[in-house]
Amino acid sequence: MLTSQQTHQLELTTNYVKEALATAEAGHDWQHIQRVITNAKAILAHEDADAFVVQLACLLHDIADAKFFDGDENIGAEKTSAFLSQLSVDEEVKDEVVFIVKYMSFKSDVLSVNEKSVAFQIVQDADRLDAIGAIGIARAFHYGGFKNRALFDPSILPKIHQSKTEYKKSTAPTINHFYEKLLLLKDQMHTETAKDMAAQRHAFMLQYLYQFYMEYDLPNWPNSF
Ligand code: ADP
Ligand code: NI
Repeated sequence: MLTSQQTHQLELTTNYVKEALATAEAGHDWQHIQRVITNAKAILAHEDADAFVVQLACLLHDIADAKFFDGDENIGAEKTSAFLSQLSVDEEVKDEVVFIVKYMSFKSDVLSVNEKSVAFQIVQDADRLDAIGAIGIARAFHYGGFKNRALFDPSILPKIHQSKTEYKKSTAPTINHFYEKLLLLKDQMHTETAKDMAAQRHAFMLQYLYQFYMEYDLPNWPNSF
């Protein structure tokens, strides 16, 4: 149960994030934050974690994207820290939320699972769930459009990138992103609830891809080469 002060602090954070993301692109806008919170609440119902920390971290996790700040991967954590100091939350709460935001924003996972609190795991699962399923498909094609990528090119096969630099440099068609990231996410979930939610969303993506290749008359892509 949240205290009335915590509820008020979440409201103030909501106002701050909504305003900060008012002109954000559709993949990381306020709607994304709301969906991540909904996912996190579904997971929280089955886990023993601090709901206040989880909700604050969900609200603040995409407050600043390194992409728009010269690749500075600390920018989100810095903004979060400055905001939480002003909000006067307990020092431990602030430290944990800043830690989550800092390590969530890294494009590659630099922490091992035992370095992540249950709250951290819930926020990460909640964010990853929004990258798969029907919404994940919409976000992927939206991102591909933003980057002017092809939807699909049967002659360009997916590849698993070995390094972060290689992954970031990829200009492959959007369908390839399913193999490079989206289809891998279900096995990266931490909590049982997220694993169940991910299994259903994963199955839907496979069904979608199957239909996509059928319409191309390439039912066995990418294994037909
Ligand atoms: P996060 O929200 O975890 O920080 P990103 O900023 O990498 O993730 O991506 C935001 C959204 O854009 C996600 O749904 C992701 O799948 C999608 N996306 C990222 N890179 C690509 C890509 N190369 N092609 C298509 N979609 C992408
Ligand atoms: Ni996110």
